[in-house]
Parts: sequence; C-alpha cells; structure tokens
Amino acid sequence: MKNLSIALIPGDGIGPEVVTEGVKLLKAIEKMDPKLSFSFEEFPWGCEYYLEHGKMMDDDGIEKLKAFDAIYLGAVGYPGVPDHISLWDLLLRIRKEFDLYVNIRPITLLNERLTPLKDKTKKDIDFLVIRENSEGEYAGAGDWLYKGKPEEVVLQTGVFSRKGTERIIRYAYEEARKQKKSLTSISKGNALNYSMVFWDEVFEEVGKEYPDVETYSYLVDAASLYFVSNPERFEIVVTSNLFGDILTDIGAAITGGMGLATGANVNPERKFPSMFEPVHGSAPDISGKGIANPLAALWSVSQMMDFFQEEKWGQLILDTIKDILEETDNLTPDLGGKATTSEVGDRFVELLESNAQKF
Ligand code: NAD
Ligand code: IPM
Ligand code: MN
Repeated sequence: MKNLSIALIPGDGIGPEVVTEGVKLLKAIEKMDPKLSFSFEEFPWGCEYYLEHGKMMDDDGIEKLKAFDAIYLGAVGYPGVPDHISLWDLLLRIRKEFDLYVNIRPITLLNERLTPLKDKTKKDIDFLVIRENSEGEYAGAGDWLYKGKPEEVVLQTGVFSRKGTERIIRYAYEEARKQKKSLTSISKGNALNYSMVFWDEVFEEVGKEYPDVETYSYLVDAASLYFVSNPERFEIVVTSNLFGDILTDIGAAITGGMGLATGANVNPERKFPSMFEPVHGSAPDISGKGIANPLAALWSVSQMMDFFQEEKWGQLILDTIKDILEETDNLTPDLGGKATTSEVGDRFVELLESNAQKF
C-alpha cells in the first residue's frame, strides 16, 4: 500500500471550485486502486486569509508543507490584494523555497474541434514546454529609487545563474533524449545582451554532451509566431521563466484555452514536495458562478500521478479527458457546453470508472 499525503491550497476565485473536482477524482482513484491511498490536509491560504491575517500564509507555512508528498494548488490572486503581494508571498514563494525549478507544461491538442488554428491536427500540436521556474526574470531582484519623484527609477534585474541555467537546460536535453525528440531553445540574445547571450551559450555548451539530440534555437518573437503558424515545429521546448509564462498562454490558446492548460512545478531531486496546478488564475470574471472548467485541474492530477510513478493512472486520466471532450453536453461554457464545474467533475469520474474497468 502506498500512502501519499497531499497538501491542498485551493486559494482564490475559481481555485477552490476546480480543486474540489480534483479531490473528487483523487478519491475515486483511491476507491478503485487497493494499492493507493491519499491523505489530504487543506490550507486556507490566499487573499481572504490575507485580508483577515495580514499575510498570505502561516509564518511556518513552508515548514508545514515540507512534510507532504505533493502540493495541489488551485489559483492565487484576487482584486483587493495587490497581485505582486499575493503571488510573491504564496505561489512564487513555494516555487522558490522548494526549488521547484522545472515547470512542465504540455501543449497538446486533445480534440481537433478545440483549436482555432485552421487545418491543424492533433499531430501538429503536441509538444512540451519546459520552463525555468526559479530565477531569471522572476528573481525578484531590483530597486525602486526616488519613488514618486521626477527622477524616479525602477530596476528589475534578470538573474541567470550558471547553476540555474545549466540545470534547466540539462533537464530538457535529458527529456529530449529520453523521448527521442528534438529540443528547441527559445531566447532573445539579440536584445538581452547579457542574460540571453549567456543562455544561448549554455544551450550550445550542454548540447555537446547530447550529440544525439537534434536542436533548434529561436528568438522569442519568432517563436511566438511559430506557436501559431507552425506549432508542428516544436517537440520539446526549453525557455526562461517569463518567456515560458507567456508562451504557455499562447499554447493554451491553440489547444482549447485556459480551462485545459496544466503545469507541474517539479523539484527533480525530490528534496521538497512538488506542486501541481492549472496554468490559469483565479478568473474573477467567472468565479462564484460554478462554470469554471475543471479539466486543467484534473490534468494536473494526471501529472501528479505520473510524478508519483503511477503512470497508469496518469494516462487513464488523460484518456478520460479526451473522452469527455467528445461530449459537448458535459463541458463548461468555455468549451461550448452548458455544464457546471461539478457536473463535469461527476461525469469525469463516471467515465474514468468505466475506463478503469477495461484494464
Ligand atoms: P486568469 O487565468 O484567471 O483568466 C484569464 C481568462 O481565462 C479569463 O477570461 C477567465 O475567465 C478564463 N479562464 C481561466 N481559467 C478558466 C477556467 N478554468 N475555466 C474557464 N475559463 C477560465 O488570468 P487573469 O484574469 O489574468 O488573472 C486573474 C488573477 O489570477 C490575477 O490575480 C492573477 O495574478 C492571478 N493568476 C494566478 C495564477 C496562479 O495562481 N497560478 C495564474 C495566472 C493568474
Ligand atoms: C503562471 C502564472 C504565474 C507566473 C503568476 C500568477 C505569478 O501566470 O503560473 O503562469 O507568472 O508564473
Ligand atoms: Mn501565467
């Protein structure tokens, strides 16, 4: 029997709505698999907590989370609390403190109806973005001088360490080698004359150890174009923190929208718990209406199962997402349906149960 402990941070807005469905799914798996059990502890951290306590998480929050096998997070951020505070003190803090330096974001078209790109098929849109997740443009280094004065100056420094750059690029090469796929680095050396020139050098240097891996290197502006015009160019992509953030929203747009985009924040050395979350935010425009699409959050559970080396469940969840995408009646409005968040979650579990019986 494998007992896995999962810390739940539902967070803000639609976060709790979609995490509820993820927990429903995990409980269904537990029921079907006699070798697996999950224990959950929920943490009420987020913007409401901030308004009440003046902080986004408990003072010993990081200590508390350390004990878990994984963290399952909904979304963080809500009007009323400045975004840079809510995100830096909770989501980004966890990514940094736990050195979750790999962000794995699949860009895979699961149903051809869902892409706005004319003539693109499932075969054309099927790649993996590996985003640096611990430093770069998100280092939080900088200054704000002469605030409010005419000579006001702000500095936001990108920090690209040898260690941080090498390890993410190496991780991506390993993945490309393992999957026998090409590797594309996305950077911006023509304008960012320190950080991205360094990035490109490291990409080439590390590449010498992987002569078997076919490589490409694009500037981020052209890469944004290719994401839309020629997504079939990409198999495995490695890029910096900010570029990865932006590019994966384009990735979401070409595969069905934010309601379907997932990302795993991973510490490959497993020194700390990894964190699984949908790519989307708290969506204040639809929160409280019960219409948030839970499929991104369910896909996160698939990534979590892969991480737990329960790939059979990871694959089964992904297959079940493909199945439910065939049933327009059982989808939320963003995907053209009329179902509520919990109706999608219920139907999903039904489909998963029937798929699991085929094993
Ligand atoms: P968002 O992802 O919350 O929403 C963007 C658009 O996508 C909105 O129109 C929203 O309705 C739609 N959308 C998102 N998820 C959906 C879902 N599951 N089903 C259906 N539609 C969905 O991005 P935003 O509006 O820029 O940000 C809102 C807040 O969330 C901000 O505070 C932001 O900082 C925060 N944010 C948090 C995370 C995170 O916690 N991982 C990620 C992105 C943004
Ligand atoms: C994401 C989000 C976060 C990021 C924000 C909320 C800090 O947009 O996970 O894509 O930029 O990493
Ligand atoms: Mn983002």
